[in-house]
Amino acid sequence: MRIDILTVVPELLGDPLNYSIIKRAKDKGLVEIYIHDIREYGKGNYRQVDDYSYGGDAGMVLTIEPIHKLMDELKAQREYDEIIYMSPDGQLLDQPLANHLSCKTNIMILCGHYKGIDHRIREHLITREISIGNYVLSGGELAAAIVCDSIIRLIPGALSDETSALSDCFQDNLLSPPVYTRPAEYNGWKVPEVLLSGNPKLISRWQEEQAWERTRLLRPELIEGMEGEDK
Ligand code: ADE
Repeated sequence: MRIDILTVVPELLGDPLNYSIIKRAKDKGLVEIYIHDIREYGKGNYRQVDDYSYGGDAGMVLTIEPIHKLMDELKAQREYDEIIYMSPDGQLLDQPLANHLSCKTNIMILCGHYKGIDHRIREHLITREISIGNYVLSGGELAAAIVCDSIIRLIPGALSDETSALSDCFQDNLLSPPVYTRPAEYNGWKVPEVLLSGNPKLISRWQEEQAWERTRLLRPELIEGMEGEDK
């Protein structure tokens, strides 16, 4: 998989995408991530990439041309399955959407900044808009890093134990059961007896019960929304 991220603040994206599972996936050749500075395509000596908005609303807006030029250059080299714009008014990121994106070959992600981007970019150049939650960030960069993390870990081979992504929270729309490690008792706080029983059947039954119980208790809407998931 190849991911191209377009931003006016590339510094925000280097570090979050250089550690842990993402780093390992890169090292294994499972994913390539390229961060492009829109400013390099900006106008004039000052590399201007923004301008005042029509209508006089306060705040600067990213202009079309630098983004269009950069996108065209990338699109001339390969075909993109998705050209995503990170925006609080986009489709909410969830596990089915992460699964869907993890199967793609080439993805482009555009990060907005300032007041936003010229709406014509969204109308003509974008195939999907994604939000990571109902709150407003200063830009799309951190949201893009979250999208990248959620999809890269799903690429087969990215996790050391391949089955562990399958037993994740949300993978079957249930929260994960609680997990424990040694010692079996700490400060008088005990690990549930069944996990020490060595009986795999009992243990997996307990884990399934816990998953349902926790979901019912903490996130009942996940159970209510179980049918009809299709991205
Ligand atoms: N840009 C600003 N806020 C955002 C959000 N909540 N999700 C995605 N991109 C954003």
